[in-house]
Amino acid sequence: MGSAAKDANGSFTAEKKVVVVFVLGGPGSGKGTQCANIVEHFGFTHLSAGDLLRAEIKSGSENGTMIQNMIKEGKIVPSEVTIKLLQQAMLDSGNNKFLIDGFPRNEENRAAFEHVTKIEPEFVLFFDCSEEEMERRLLSRNQGRVDDNIETIRKRFKVFVESSMPVIEYYNSKGKVSKIDAGKPVDEVFEAVKAIFSPYNAQSA
Ligand code: ADP
Ligand code: C5P
Ligand code: MG
Repeated sequence: MGSAAKDANGSFTAEKKVVVVFVLGGPGSGKGTQCANIVEHFGFTHLSAGDLLRAEIKSGSENGTMIQNMIKEGKIVPSEVTIKLLQQAMLDSGNNKFLIDGFPRNEENRAAFEHVTKIEPEFVLFFDCSEEEMERRLLSRNQGRVDDNIETIRKRFKVFVESSMPVIEYYNSKGKVSKIDAGKPVDEVFEAVKAIFSPYNAQSA
């Protein structure tokens, strides 16, 4: 386990336990929406791997073109790129409780994060939603994302089933998955989420 406080080298020290919750689910299952609610009520810092990758493209990074091409195709960016962004964002936050949204997306993501950070997630929040509903949501998301078109959406669904579900199954076999019915309205989904997060209320941060 690591911690939140930074030492002189910018690394986490052993003072405070780091709590990491992986927030997983298909594209459009409502991860970002619910993470915003969790942040408000439970004092976590929300780190969306997809948002960090999109910010990296905008920053003019040398990896920008590669990341952009992967996102357009719904493919998973090499772990070292994504993990560096997550680590930096964790350090910059000054917090010790993190919702890591949309990561790990495949076995390589999972194993590399564990190897590099030595952090084991507290648990995995899994938003379970039908493809039909996710497709409807993505096609009306209206955020101008290059991957919210039907062709890329189908590729993302395939990657989710083939590469991301095995990660959820891995954590499920360790008894670490809290599954939520994410096909319901936002408020109802959050009621279920709240019940899971009640031990992590902001006061105990
Ligand atoms: P993800 O981060 O899992 O891809 P988002 O949180 O961005 O999903 O949600 C995708 C779209 O669906 C957004 O436009 C969001 O407003 C909408 N949305 C999220 N949760 C629900 C819900 N429970 N019911 C209906 N629409 C939702
Ligand atoms: O989670 P989000 O839907 O924002 O992710 C968008 C895209 O970002 C993914 O389809 C993928 O191309 C890329 N991504 C990735 N590795 C992650 C998370 C997202 O390559 N761990
Ligand atoms: Mg999202």
